[in-house]
Amino acid sequence: MANELVTSVLSLGLSIAFILVIVAFVAKDANLEDIHLMNTKALKTMCKPTDYKEACYYALAEVAKNTSATKKDYIFASVNSTIVELQKTVGKSASIRKSLGGRVDANAKHTCDDLINCEKLLGHAIEDLQHVFKVGHKTKTTTLPKHVDQILVWLTAARAYQTTCVDEIKDEKVRKDMKKKLEKANKHTFNSQKIIYNVKKILKDFGVELSDDSKPSAGHRRLLDEGELIALEGFPSWVSVSDRRLLGGESDDDDKSKKHEPEPKLTGQEYFKTLEPEPLDKTVKPNAVVAKDGSGQFKTIKDAVASYPLNHQGRFILYIKAGVYDEGQIIVNRNQNNVYMYGDGCDKTIITGQLNQGIAHIVTSKTATFVAEGERFMAKNIRFQNTIGTQGYQAVAFRSQSPHTVMVDCSFEGYQDTLYYHAHDQFYKNCVVSGTVDIIFGSGRAFFQDTKIFFRKPEKDQENTMAADGRMKYEEAAGIVFQNCKIMESPESKPVKGQMKSYLGRPWKKKSKVVVMKSEIGDVIQPEGWTKWDSEEGEHNHDYCMFREYENKGPGSNTDKRVDWSGFEVIEDEEDAAKFSADKFIDAGSWLPKAGVPVNLKV
Ligand SMILES: *[C@@H]1O[C@H](CO)[C@@H](O)[C@H](O)[C@H]1NC(C)=O
Ligand SMILES: *[C@@H]1O[C@H](CO)[C@@H](O)[C@H](O)[C@H]1NC(C)=O
Repeated sequence: MANELVTSVLSLGLSIAFILVIVAFVAKDANLEDIHLMNTKALKTMCKPTDYKEACYYALAEVAKNTSATKKDYIFASVNSTIVELQKTVGKSASIRKSLGGRVDANAKHTCDDLINCEKLLGHAIEDLQHVFKVGHKTKTTTLPKHVDQILVWLTAARAYQTTCVDEIKDEKVRKDMKKKLEKANKHTFNSQKIIYNVKKILKDFGVELSDDSKPSAGHRRLLDEGELIALEGFPSWVSVSDRRLLGGESDDDDKSKKHEPEPKLTGQEYFKTLEPEPLDKTVKPNAVVAKDGSGQFKTIKDAVASYPLNHQGRFILYIKAGVYDEGQIIVNRNQNNVYMYGDGCDKTIITGQLNQGIAHIVTSKTATFVAEGERFMAKNIRFQNTIGTQGYQAVAFRSQSPHTVMVDCSFEGYQDTLYYHAHDQFYKNCVVSGTVDIIFGSGRAFFQDTKIFFRKPEKDQENTMAADGRMKYEEAAGIVFQNCKIMESPESKPVKGQMKSYLGRPWKKKSKVVVMKSEIGDVIQPEGWTKWDSEEGEHNHDYCMFREYENKGPGSNTDKRVDWSGFEVIEDEEDAAKFSADKFIDAGSWLPKAGVPVNLKV
């Protein structure tokens, strides 16, 4: 009893001391007279789930001074601070470049290029966060919990760009320097993720009454078909919020709006910058034909992509006729949305390249033969390859940061780092992916269905790994699922199968998440199944990662000798496995059927 009293007095003392420290900390930047206006209870409520408390209080300092600030102002304050800090960091990177400007050596030139790459990526993060901030502010407070998954996808992308920016600076001194300069933005990003993840609880603590259907939309709304949706909402689900408003739909006036009005059910499409296009129809003519032999409008894919009209609406369709297209890096950029490319088949339409890290010293993201950045990139019947070989080390064939990427009947051929699912939700169906080390890697959320994964022979000192996921925090919308896939050696490496060691994956970042289910695993996979991340920074990742297997078959699927890490488990019952269905994992039901893509939504 006495002890309890002492403890509670102690902890009370501590928390008062803590708040005093915070106020003193904030006071450095805020006007002292304003401090008394701060709503410390609101600050505590908001910052409770965050890992970086100081950063959180700092982000809220401005908002807390404003007596008419809304709950949404509090909720998105960390997102705003991330944007502000990222903008500062871009400025700092530019001044490092200036200071290198006088030097003419190759190293300085490389570092400048790396910094430009970094600034470009941070620019993507800033743009995306500004967009989320804007859309988030338009959302009714009581419906915010339904948007959690979508917002987390964008916040995870913003984090991925920050990480890539730093990871890809080769000069160690400059890399460390930039890492430090990015620290504040990183902390605000992670805090934003935690706040959004816990938004339901936070709103409850704020006394907001949430409607019963305020659960995240994932796993619920796709059960309705388009007809039912129109009946329910008055508009088809692909009509954006702003258009609904234009069409006379619901307005959205923060907390004051009438609670009992039915709320629009949304699919998360409102976080996209363009409207969801009509489903693909076989009779639709392509906007342009690309043919090497001159029988189309364009001879190169680059020229065809460049013909994308400004502010184009709907699908932009390119038919790439048979041929080998070797054009250096091809980018479908962030203004080129809803591009759909189809070819004559993986053996006929081939997009190839040789950019690489090992020999040409190009940073990983820039080695990609093909890059998809614009929203809803789709491709079918095309092969993407990087032919440099194992000595090129990192050499990407395909990289995507396109929200709602869809790849059907495609093939991805490479060695190390063949397929980079850099950010956002991505779906691969009936494809073939081949490679050696970290064949499929990234920080988005990728789902592979009915796909073959082929291991090729690596360099002598290398081991093969299929998946290297870069999820950093529990809240992040990142990970890979393989369902009904075939995992085996490539046909040409069958004779040397005995000389290579291959694993299902290794934990690139701390919370790496990989699920292999209902797949056929060949004897090419080592009995342990998984391997550790062998760097100092990642040496404990296997304790925290989330590697799972469920109902696999084939000679490599026996889990008796699998690793005994705390990060690995065999899933026993279907209910657990169902969490990783395409529907649950990437909310596939809300976008793939509508795009006309065949998908198995269940486990
Ligand atoms: C205070 O918050 C309100 C509501 O969001 C906003 O309209 C206003 O501009 C803010 N005032 C200041 C000084 O930032
Ligand atoms: C974003 O943060 C900055 C810096 O704290 C602040 O000046 C600005 O008013 C904030 N903007 C919004 C829209 O909250």
